[in-house]
Amino acid sequence: MIQENEKKFLDLICKVPNVAVQGYDKNRRVIYWNKASQEIYGYTKEDAMGNRVEDLIIPDFMIEEVIQNIKDCHEKKIDIPSGELKLKHKNGSTVYVSSSHVMLYNDTSSPELFCIDIDINEQKKQEKELKEKNLILQEKSKMADIGKMIENISHQWKQPLQMVSSAVCGIKLVNDLNKLDKKYLISSLDTVEKNIQYMSNTIDLFGNYYKKNESKTEYNISTIIKMSLELIKSYTRKYKINVIINVEEKIIHRGYQNHLIQVLINIITNSIEAFKNRDIKEKYIFLSTIKKKNEIQLILKDNANGIDENIIDNVFEEKFTTKKDKNTRGIGLFLSKKLIKDSMSGDISVKNSTFTYSKKSYKGAEFIIKLPYEH
Ligand SMILES: Nc1ncnc2c1ncn2[C@@H]1O[C@H](COP(=O)(O)OP(=O)(O)OP(=O)(O)O)[C@@H](O)[C@H]1O
Ligand SMILES: [Mg+2]
Repeated sequence: MIQENEKKFLDLICKVPNVAVQGYDKNRRVIYWNKASQEIYGYTKEDAMGNRVEDLIIPDFMIEEVIQNIKDCHEKKIDIPSGELKLKHKNGSTVYVSSSHVMLYNDTSSPELFCIDIDINEQKKQEKELKEKNLILQEKSKMADIGKMIENISHQWKQPLQMVSSAVCGIKLVNDLNKLDKKYLISSLDTVEKNIQYMSNTIDLFGNYYKKNESKTEYNISTIIKMSLELIKSYTRKYKINVIINVEEKIIHRGYQNHLIQVLINIITNSIEAFKNRDIKEKYIFLSTIKKKNEIQLILKDNANGIDENIIDNVFEEKFTTKKDKNTRGIGLFLSKKLIKDSMSGDISVKNSTFTYSKKSYKGAEFIIKLPYEH
């Protein structure tokens, strides 16, 4: 009875357009091939019947695994898991399908394996286009950043360059006076070496940040926070902003570290820009973390008086800005939310908060980044 019902159900499914159904015997030869299979894979029923699955729609890299899976299914009754597969069309092109498998047992012959595939090519194409669009957007925003970053490097190099220059001039001068001894020389060369090392480190940091094709890695959240602050240190110094860090030292997270750095830089840059436009004497940016069971929260707060309640719901929209300078395009927060949501399955929110620090009360914007976290 159960088998009969299964058969009926399969008959029904077979008639649904866009649902490709194929049946295979235990030697993996086609015994059933419906119309939708022809549409998805390009083979007519006549082409397909009696041929082995691996000679039709299985790409080379999967052949061994598929043969083993079908063998296990017949001999050990191990189910073949359903899922997204990258199969092959008659013309060689890739076909993306969402595939499920059913074993039908009837008492007369050996069990038959049925595959039910749904075409997901269009969905895959859209996903790819969206990914490319996001990448372009991200690169654009980085290009806008480059101007700011170059200013940063030149700020960060000013002091070490002066140190190197004065050490070298010192050596020359002392030598001209015939007073150059080994101790003086070594100590000056030490200064030169240290400062060159510092410059080399800063350039590496910027270089890494601009690297493309990033993949997921493991990193310590507190290191990422410190790296982000290092990258914009000249700004926080220039505008005399106190950065108060209260982060747990060891939270290991897996994700795209450059995306996270970019998001932190976007949020902190906004705070700096808010301070620039408002007359605030003691300026603070607070960075803290909260580790929950399945979530990490990164909290970034400033005391630049906050965001107007009339616009606070719009700040994550694309091209939303209240700034007038020509480099501003209102994409900082839009992109930040996208990066956190799309590539790290997290979220960002903002609210105005009033708080006390060192017995004084302040008001400012508070951004909370939530990231899923596995121990
Ligand atoms: N810390 C903050 N304090 C006050 N206002 C803020 C703060 N952060 C963001 N905003 C508001 O949110 C708006 C949107 O920010 P967003 O970073 O998306 O764009 P932008 O800074 O204006 O431009 P871009 O980032 O492209 O240079 C800002 O124009 C500003 O009005
Ligand atoms: Mg911004």
